[in-house]
Amino acid sequence: MAQSDIGVIGLGTMGAMLTMNIADKGFHVAGYNRTAARLASYMEEAGDLAARITPCETLETFVASLKTPRAIILMVPAGAPVDDQIAALRPLLDEADLIIDAGNANFHDTNRRAAAAKAAGQAFLGIGVSGGAEGARFGPSIMGGGSRAHWDRVAPILTAIAAQYDDTACATYMGEGGAGHFVKTVHNGIEYADMQLIAEAYGILRDGKSMQAAACGAVFTRWNTGVLQSYLIEISGKVSGAMDEATRQPVLDVILDRAGQKGTGRWTVIESQMLGAPVPVIEAAVGARNLSAMRDLRQAGEAAFGAAETAISDTDLSLDDIEAALIAGKVLCYAQGFDLLTRASADYGWDLPMAEIAEVWRAGCIIRSSMLNDMAAALRDGPENLALAPFFRDVIAKNIKGLRKTALAAQTAGLPVPALASALAYFDALRQGRSTANMLQAQRDFFGAHGFERVDAPGAHHGPWLGQHLE
Ligand code: 6PG
Repeated sequence: MAQSDIGVIGLGTMGAMLTMNIADKGFHVAGYNRTAARLASYMEEAGDLAARITPCETLETFVASLKTPRAIILMVPAGAPVDDQIAALRPLLDEADLIIDAGNANFHDTNRRAAAAKAAGQAFLGIGVSGGAEGARFGPSIMGGGSRAHWDRVAPILTAIAAQYDDTACATYMGEGGAGHFVKTVHNGIEYADMQLIAEAYGILRDGKSMQAAACGAVFTRWNTGVLQSYLIEISGKVSGAMDEATRQPVLDVILDRAGQKGTGRWTVIESQMLGAPVPVIEAAVGARNLSAMRDLRQAGEAAFGAAETAISDTDLSLDDIEAALIAGKVLCYAQGFDLLTRASADYGWDLPMAEIAEVWRAGCIIRSSMLNDMAAALRDGPENLALAPFFRDVIAKNIKGLRKTALAAQTAGLPVPALASALAYFDALRQGRSTANMLQAQRDFFGAHGFERVDAPGAHHGPWLGQHLE
């Protein structure tokens, strides 16, 4: 009997948690998994919520169990599995039935899938979902993309299951096609940068200040009560304090220093390059992850050059300086992320709602933080750059000295701080009214007759060297 309000395909951790969240909010939901063996354990995990969940062993029974017009969320791995699932599903559906890809899709794929669906008169949405398993179960942050009418059809369910900030649901329509997945990609790029900035601060505490993991954790936990309050600082405090049962060592000390990645940070960097909207702190974070993976090379490097003398005195650098560095670095990194979103919005004709993007990230997602509420307020006035909004101009002015001291002390001690240093370089470039690109223009004109603009006359000009060096 067609009784389910919505269906979910893919009952891995995220998909299973999402169905339970939907059922918890009073909706009836159907679940289908490619391997039917998963259904039994899944229904057991659902407990009392199983009463509103219909487990389906075949795609046909799954489709038949949904109220029409149907709405189906795909929670399958990004890439080919999404195309395969759509291909298997479409022949069983009516045109008005809506397929919603809720994975971490590349927005180019979402644009392609949305265009194909539109051409065939079919309904399709691509939504970015953030918050990990806990978010999926108790309230994720949702960034929607596709046709507004299709979004409106499922908005009652999506807003009900989303995280709430005060009384506002963290589920927002971003724009046509891949807009939702683009915003989610930039969220992840910022996530990489936020994490890297924290890891660099941890490195200064561990190697510069010789602090044990638990002591580092206590510092993060204290910072979490101030301007830096955020999920990532909070969990950094928690992971630093955790002990490994087997070795009775801090867990952090037994984790190999080699970071993985699924690619969304890299996508952010690629898209920023395509749009000419620089995100150097995110680039530094992606580069640092790549270099972390080259452990053998780093070991060989240490053998070749010797390890750095990394001690940093409290006179040279205080914990307050490092906190200030994280505050300034974070604001500058977000300024870059919002710049990228602004550029993408203009180039792709999306009209992305900047303040609402900050709002939708205030709860549920991995980068949630108290600062995002202030960012939403600042973005509402449409500043040219978030760093130039009066509130954040003051935050930067107050904390930039700490960032400079931290980057300087770390670099003097030989500690790598690519994201912090990059944030500082971005700030210095941002406030340099006259850059050094006049030298680049002169060089380009010298070797390639590319021409340059003059400060005192309009039009394209050449230097006195033109032709001379060819003689
Ligand atoms: C989220 C996360 C989530 C996932 C990323 C991280 O917003 O819930 O960003 O999407 O954790 O895929 O991926 P990697 O660090 O493995 O690239």
